[in-house]
Amino acid sequence: MHMNLKELTSSCAAYRTYTDRVVTDDELYRILDVARFAPSGGNRQGWRVVVIKDQAIKEKVRDLYVVSWREYMAHVEAGLVPFAPISDRNWSGPAVDLEAARSKERPFDFADHLDRAPALLAVFVELSKLAVLDNGLDRQSIVGGASVYPFCYNILLAAVEIGLGGVMTTALCREEPAVMSLLGADPGFALAALLVIGEPVKRVSRLSRRPVDDFSRVDSFNGVPFGAELDS
Ligand SMILES: Cc1cc2nc3c(=O)[nH]c(=O)nc-3n(C[C@H](O)[C@H](O)[C@H](O)COP(=O)(O)O)c2cc1C
Repeated sequence: MHMNLKELTSSCAAYRTYTDRVVTDDELYRILDVARFAPSGGNRQGWRVVVIKDQAIKEKVRDLYVVSWREYMAHVEAGLVPFAPISDRNWSGPAVDLEAARSKERPFDFADHLDRAPALLAVFVELSKLAVLDNGLDRQSIVGGASVYPFCYNILLAAVEIGLGGVMTTALCREEPAVMSLLGADPGFALAALLVIGEPVKRVSRLSRRPVDDFSRVDSFNGVPFGAELDS
């Protein structure tokens, strides 16, 4: 059955458990061949994908991911949004003892068995190709990511379309220097995400997300909800 776009987006869940089914190179190629039509600022397409096949590298990636995951969960446990920027100089990070967090075990199948996931794609982006229009504002910059994350999301959509599924993860970005050296990344690139793909054990047919009139307003940020008067 071919899915329309809404069926695709509403079933493109964060899939973290996979069957043993192998994801072939042909499938990965097909996925990337769909994803490459993503937009980017100035159409500069600064992405670079490393398809991680080597088991020893996968294990090192897993170990780095596990440490990042521990830091992340220490924030969650403390009731914080992990690494949320409040301003550039004052994020929620320092409220947690990161050193202690890194050595505290937090069993989680996805992280602990990441090296066994059917496919791992590291997505890098070349910083000099990003038009970061909010650079220099007195807050955390967010615009640069917009030139690589549509590409990442396309990968997930393309995976779902062919009966696979995956998850975009950024936990590993905490360990960027180690990942750069592990994968021999050129300086001037940043790690945008690790995408994990496989055949989901259980598919989601309808994601839970906020309705349109919950997040859209008319004419002003706190105006009346957009669409409330429409028959949906
Ligand atoms: C930018 C971004 C970063 C994310 N990082 C991680 C991550 O590091 N680890 C992880 O397990 N999931 C990660 N996720 C997946 C989210 O947790 C997931 O998309 C969200 O909880 C919605 O899940 P659902 O689609 O199954 O409802 C990330 C998602 C996005 C968009």
